[in-house]
Amino acid sequence: MEKYPGKRKIAVFISGRGSNLKNLIKHSKKKNSLIKIILVISNNPNAEGLKYASRSKIKIFGIKFKNISSFEKNSLKLLKKYNIDLLCLAGFMKILSGNFIKKFSKPILNIHPSLLPKYKGLNTHERAIKNKDKFAGASIHKVTEKLDSGKVILQKKVKILKSDTVRSLEKKVLKIEHKIYPKAIDKFLSNL
Ligand code: GRF
Repeated sequence: MEKYPGKRKIAVFISGRGSNLKNLIKHSKKKNSLIKIILVISNNPNAEGLKYASRSKIKIFGIKFKNISSFEKNSLKLLKKYNIDLLCLAGFMKILSGNFIKKFSKPILNIHPSLLPKYKGLNTHERAIKNKDKFAGASIHKVTEKLDSGKVILQKKVKILKSDTVRSLEKKVLKIEHKIYPKAIDKFLSNL
C-alpha cells in the first residue's frame, strides 16, 4: 500500500536559517497539502533549519561540504533511496550541476528573492534599491542548468518605499516567500 496516499515525496536542500523550510513543513502538515517532506539535506551541518526539521521527525543529513561533485553524489544517493518525487531548494546557496539535474531526473524548484528575470544571483535587494525600482518580490522557478533562469511558476511583488533599506526589504520579501512557496509547489504538482 502507498505510504502517504495522495502526497508527493519531497526533499528540501537548505544552507542556513531555514525559515522557508519551516514554513513548508507547516504547510505539509495541512490535510489538503499535496506534499510530505521526507528528507532535508544541507551542505552545512550546522544549518539552523536542520534542527527544526529533526524536531519534526524528518530525516536530516548535514553533509560537510568538500566540493559540489561529492555533495551531489552523496545527496543523489539519498534522493534515490527515499524515492523522492520533487526537490525543493530553500535558501540553498550552492549551484547544482547539469549532470546532477539530469541524473536526478525529477523536477527541482527554487525560491529566489527577486522578480525574475530581474536580478539573478546574489544581493537582489541591494540591486533593486540601487536601481530605484518601484517593486521587489520573490519568484518560484524550475531549476535548470542556467542559474535562476528556469520557468517561473509563481511570482509576487511588493512595493519598495523610499524609506526601505536592504534589511527592511528583505523582511518584506521573506513574508512573500513564505506565502508563495507552498502555493507554487501545490500548483506545480497539480499540473504534472
Ligand atoms: C531566502 O530569502 C531565499 O529566497 C534566499 O535565501 C533566503 C533563505 O532564507 N535564496 P531561509 O533560510 O529560508 O530563512
